[in-house]
Amino acid sequence: GKQGYAHYMLKEMHEQPGIIEKLLHHYGDHAAGTSLDHAKLTLQHRQRLGIVACGSSYYAGMVGKYWLESIASLPVDLDIASEFRYRNTPLSSSSAHLFISQSGETADTLAALRYTKQLGITSLSLVNAPASAMARESAGFIETLAGAEIGVASTKAFTAQLMMLALLTLRLAESSAHCDAGTVKYAMDSLRHLPEQMRQMLKQQDAIQAIAGRLRRARNVLYIGRGMAYPLALEGALKLKEISYIHAEAYPAGELKHGPIALVDDELPVIVLAPPGELQEKTLSNLREIASRGAQITLISDQAGVDLAADGIQDAIVMPDCNAMAMPMLYTLPLQLLAYRVALLKGTDIDQPRNLAKSVTVE
Ligand code: M6R
Repeated sequence: GKQGYAHYMLKEMHEQPGIIEKLLHHYGDHAAGTSLDHAKLTLQHRQRLGIVACGSSYYAGMVGKYWLESIASLPVDLDIASEFRYRNTPLSSSSAHLFISQSGETADTLAALRYTKQLGITSLSLVNAPASAMARESAGFIETLAGAEIGVASTKAFTAQLMMLALLTLRLAESSAHCDAGTVKYAMDSLRHLPEQMRQMLKQQDAIQAIAGRLRRARNVLYIGRGMAYPLALEGALKLKEISYIHAEAYPAGELKHGPIALVDDELPVIVLAPPGELQEKTLSNLREIASRGAQITLISDQAGVDLAADGIQDAIVMPDCNAMAMPMLYTLPLQLLAYRVALLKGTDIDQPRNLAKSVTVE
């Protein structure tokens, strides 16, 4: 049941720190012989990795691409399943494929898995449902261990996918010539602080409630970010669309001036994701460009970022300090909570939004 929570989505959001702990315990440092180990052995000498998924699982794959390429030096080709399966891309036997899916039953992702298998390409899956078709049919599967997810809007399965992609990246980086042991160890240690940082974040409901009150009447919301914050912006926009029925769009912050900045006026709410790191200053300068055109800006950043943005913003969600590798999991939380709060104010059917199914088993 919902264990006292008003919705499954709320319950599932609050389960996230515990799931990250479980994943650290199960797949952490010395977990030899796990499915993650098996995946490492399968992938470590590959020239490329193809990642294929739909929806939120695809956005998790986007974050995975950034990590796998920049930390484990493994080039990644990322595809949406319903596009991949019909585009006749040349696949090489020196590559492998990873299919990401909460349900393990999504029709297009499953068809894409069958297609690559038919071509003789090694295919792994990252699934939450161990008894699913994808788990059965792939050469190996990694389990996200998030437990059954009931809310149609994916929350805990998404952060569990991110966590597993982080752990997979670190495993592969251990044996990569381009990454030193210290970097891997430092990242691994910092992931151990994540459950606590997530718990801290989940307590900050007041700021989010106030922002939700302003967003509930919006007709459009723009989400922007750079680097790994860009797939998170996509995920945040998807959450808002799914459960609050407000049109939302995500853009890489650096692309604004190539078109969408034309939409910015004093009625457009913009959610700016500016986690600490080398891209923060660049994102904040994009923020200033839209602030000067009147955009109603909510900044999600650390205290330093919020101080730098100063009076350009209307609201801020101040995030706990965290290491770069923990950022995607941590910064997903306020996006989920915000969508949830807006939907609550609008009175929509949060766990079962109109027109959507938990598992999309038709193409
Ligand atoms: O079960 P899957 O991960 O394969 O599902 C993929 C998408 O249908 C899913 O992520 C969908 O976009 C969610 N409703 C997102 O909240």
